[in-house]
Amino acid sequence: MLKDKNILIGVCGGISAYKVCDLVSRLKKKEANINIIMTRASTNFINPLTFQSLSLNKVVSDMFDKPSYLEIDHISLAKKADIFVIAPATANIMGKIANGIADDMLSTTIMATKAPVVLVPAMNSNMYENPILQDNISLLKNYGYIFIDPVDGRLACGDTGKGKMAEPEFIEKFITSFLTSSSELKGKKIIVTAGPTKEPIDPVRFISNHSTGKMGYAIAEKAANRGADVYLISGPTNLEMPIGVNLINVVSAKEMYNAIMSHYYNADVVIKSAAVSDYKPSEISSQKIKKEDEDLLIKLEKNPDILYELGKIKENKILIGFAMETQNLIENAKEKIKKKNLDFIVANDLNQKGAGFAFDTNIVKIIDKNGHVENISKMAKIDLADIIIDRVIMLLKNRNIDKRL
Ligand SMILES: Cc1cc2nc3c(=O)[nH]c(=O)nc-3n(C[C@H](O)[C@H](O)[C@H](O)COP(=O)(O)O)c2cc1C
Repeated sequence: MLKDKNILIGVCGGISAYKVCDLVSRLKKKEANINIIMTRASTNFINPLTFQSLSLNKVVSDMFDKPSYLEIDHISLAKKADIFVIAPATANIMGKIANGIADDMLSTTIMATKAPVVLVPAMNSNMYENPILQDNISLLKNYGYIFIDPVDGRLACGDTGKGKMAEPEFIEKFITSFLTSSSELKGKKIIVTAGPTKEPIDPVRFISNHSTGKMGYAIAEKAANRGADVYLISGPTNLEMPIGVNLINVVSAKEMYNAIMSHYYNADVVIKSAAVSDYKPSEISSQKIKKEDEDLLIKLEKNPDILYELGKIKENKILIGFAMETQNLIENAKEKIKKKNLDFIVANDLNQKGAGFAFDTNIVKIIDKNGHVENISKMAKIDLADIIIDRVIMLLKNRNIDKRL
């Protein structure tokens, strides 16, 4: 929720101004207070009444309009903003900011604010590639302006290329994450693994499992939201990259093992939620295996047990595993904690409806290395991620106390 947050949105003259209506409506649902400044050009695309109705606030556009409540609008709006988002950001507004021009309500307010300013460019791809604009963008980045880059796609003018404005859903998530993030995990490096691995049999076939990566992606998002430097090592998934994490894509268990090892030495925490294949075919056929009359036997060999290997060289890192069982959940989980030198394990029973792969919810038990079992009732994976991160923060605090003794 964004209650008590003041979001100032500057709308410029581009076709994608219509998408900002959706953005305002999404932010309003999260209870943010939204003020909107429209450039004169943008009022050709959207009537200010639309934004006024969506934001429930007066929309400002003309510098020399009578100020509301006897305040000077560009100063009062600039001061009260927690974040200032310019969407769509035209080539024109970026050129003006980069050159210190303040000749209308929007550019003057940008000049007057101390709030973080997020620019969301949108334009024809030739305009976007123009070297003058690119120089302006570099200059603005150096000054600390934040950018949500445009994406490749079909543009309103019919061309295809880079210049399409980021989707409102993505901008909303970015703003929410920016305004709600904390610094509890600042300076801490956290590795999160997620998703399945795929073990090739031949060029077209593989062994894998039903993991979707949802739990690991939720944990990575929440850890980044609390200020950690997150490395998300992910097997193949269909999920969007969480905001603020370093994403490393891998396919096989061996690749996942190598990726973890190259980041492990200076990590503070490793959360291994990936469903790594225990076995892989002993041989990978270089050609597609042809269908024959007889049955086909594929010999499997063991993959490296990543968690076990990490446990052997753990030192003072915090190591968290996941267990997914169909029987003897607690006994198996406790054994895994011991064998793999874990601090705690998040165990879920696949027999329970709403737990495990693919669901947006999970039902788990958190079991610590002293054998204490905490039952967590059914909840959204994103909320469970918060609980897991709370436990990690507690362990990190205790680790610091232990160090001082
Ligand atoms: C139909 C139409 C679409 C436009 N779309 C864009 C756009 O997507 N991005 C952009 O930078 N300029 C676009 N422009 C040009 C801007 O409207 C123009 O540069 C204007 O001066 C921008 O003013 P502002 O930055 O004060 O809003 C478009 C113009 C028209 C007529």
